[in-house]
Amino acid sequence: MSTFTECQPILPVSAGLKNGKLQIAGFDLETLALKYDTPLYLYDGATLRHQVESIRSLFGCYPGEWEITYAGKAYFSLGFARKIAELGLGVDVASLRELMMAKRAGFDPERVHLHGNNKSPEALELALEWGIHSIVVDSLDEIDFLTEIASRLGKVARIWLRITPGMEIDNVHPYMQTGSSSSKFGLSVIDGTASKGIQRAKANRWLDLSGLHIHLGSQIYFGDPYANALRMLIELAEREGLVPREISPGGGWGQPYVPEQLKAARPVSDWISAVCAAVNSEYSKRNWPLPKIVIEPGRYLAARAGVALYRVGTTKFTADGTYFIAVDGGLADNPRPALYGAQYAAIMVNNPEAEGRFSSHIVGKFCESGDELIKGIMMPMVQRSDLMVTPVAGAYQLSMSSNYNMATRPCVLWLEEGQEEILQKRERPELEGWWVSADEA
Ligand SMILES: Cc1ncc(COP(=O)(O)O)c(C=O)c1O
Repeated sequence: MSTFTECQPILPVSAGLKNGKLQIAGFDLETLALKYDTPLYLYDGATLRHQVESIRSLFGCYPGEWEITYAGKAYFSLGFARKIAELGLGVDVASLRELMMAKRAGFDPERVHLHGNNKSPEALELALEWGIHSIVVDSLDEIDFLTEIASRLGKVARIWLRITPGMEIDNVHPYMQTGSSSSKFGLSVIDGTASKGIQRAKANRWLDLSGLHIHLGSQIYFGDPYANALRMLIELAEREGLVPREISPGGGWGQPYVPEQLKAARPVSDWISAVCAAVNSEYSKRNWPLPKIVIEPGRYLAARAGVALYRVGTTKFTADGTYFIAVDGGLADNPRPALYGAQYAAIMVNNPEAEGRFSSHIVGKFCESGDELIKGIMMPMVQRSDLMVTPVAGAYQLSMSSNYNMATRPCVLWLEEGQEEILQKRERPELEGWWVSADEA
């Protein structure tokens, strides 16, 4: 069991207790659950701003330009994208639809970056037509592909090259590693592809190579790998006769999901100071003009701002004494436990300080044995229709959600003290849209 007190550092900053019940941004969660149904996802505006400010305040240490660019893949919807744009952040998008969403949400194209290891021609065309800041080119093949499109449209493409430094990070799940030389992403330093890419881009009149980019992976808690990778990137640039005007160390800063992870978690200042110091010293050493640093946090900004609110259904004890608690969501709205063995905490809304008594598995309602949100957590006795919150639900849950078992995706609310706003409507349960064959539509 995780109590409110234990979980406070991972709950939204506006979470509190009133009359012994958990509330967020002053909202009674039972009232919200009755109004919007469950599963229900809640994003706390105060927490998102808190996370943004915690990074912004650290960039004072860097004398050059810098930008915080939210990684839209963590969670994106039109309403959320607008909140991010209003906060003055840039956005990193990784698909045509994310790009279209960024455009519709009113982002300044100068703050938009397009990523992806296999971008569609439509995404590249829109990026060029809209004039976004940079297309982050991922391979030699893409240099040629983009050149064809840019020359056909008569537009010079401003690009970064995504470089794979050939690094693996300790204690990071293999599915979250992206910097190793066998990664599907980027141009490898180790086999010389990165050098070829720089030369090919420099010689190409349809490309303006303004920056270099790396992204090492996710859930990283140490500044050193970033500093080492940036040094490697800058040495590579020097060897190839390039002075990058922009440098991006990607995203990936860690976020604790359960109270037990708090001890190992490091403050975000470790990340920002390592990045700023490495770039500053490597550029100064070479007498190069300082570049703009663009960081791309996704999880760090969005994860803690979000919680998932579920209602308990069936409960049972198995022969070995395990307590199964089934809730009305699971694998379809949160595939992370199945995908990465991700850990979560659970807090009962009406009994948030209850001590755990039974070793329990909190499972979803989907037809997969792997649909286990939390394995082996100590829980008190709970009842059908009790409400449960899982904190740190704001990143890579809904953006990876599915319609498995024909589930409808949940409703998502944005909460400010005394004010709720729908970010995403619950998908309608009627059999319509793409579920219906063409002749029945
Ligand atoms: C290129 C790039 N930048 C930034 C991110 C964001 O990572 P995180 O959410 O861990 O900060 C990702 C995540 O996959 C990414 O691929």
